[in-house]
Amino acid sequence: MKILILHGPNLNLLGTREPEVYGSMTLEDINRKLVELGKELGAEIKCVQSNHEGALIDTLHEARTSMDGVIFNPGGYTHTSIALRDAISSIQIPVIEVHLSNVYAREEFRHVSMISAVCKGKIVGLGWRSYLLGLRALVDLLTAT
Ligand code: DQA
Repeated sequence: MKILILHGPNLNLLGTREPEVYGSMTLEDINRKLVELGKELGAEIKCVQSNHEGALIDTLHEARTSMDGVIFNPGGYTHTSIALRDAISSIQIPVIEVHLSNVYAREEFRHVSMISAVCKGKIVGLGWRSYLLGLRALVDLLTAT
């Protein structure tokens, strides 16, 4: 089983970026935890981060044939990108939306997600744990089907 972990814009700065909102773990720390959990669950993990909308779309297209599912934190593009939503609906594999912060406890523009309706499910507000819970759920869903 192969799972893509896809991180959107500004998440490369985790650790130093607004730690009171996003925590003190770096992206590398989170990716390391995901790879470890993947081993435990029997899933091969590939981690990709990009600050560019088109590159995120290309990566989703590539995942269509090479991956079994995706854990996706689209960062700020969550709230704006119809193109990312279309990319998710164009691929047949399940995508789980994750966010570190509780977007519903923040500014109103963060309450809207362009992608939630085309994702299998969504986990928000649990810091780095959002990713780990997303991975557990995705592997479970893929094993059950
Ligand atoms: C985020 C929430 C978004 O609103 C924000 O733009 C991010 C990070 C999160 O993980 O909490 O970049 O996706």
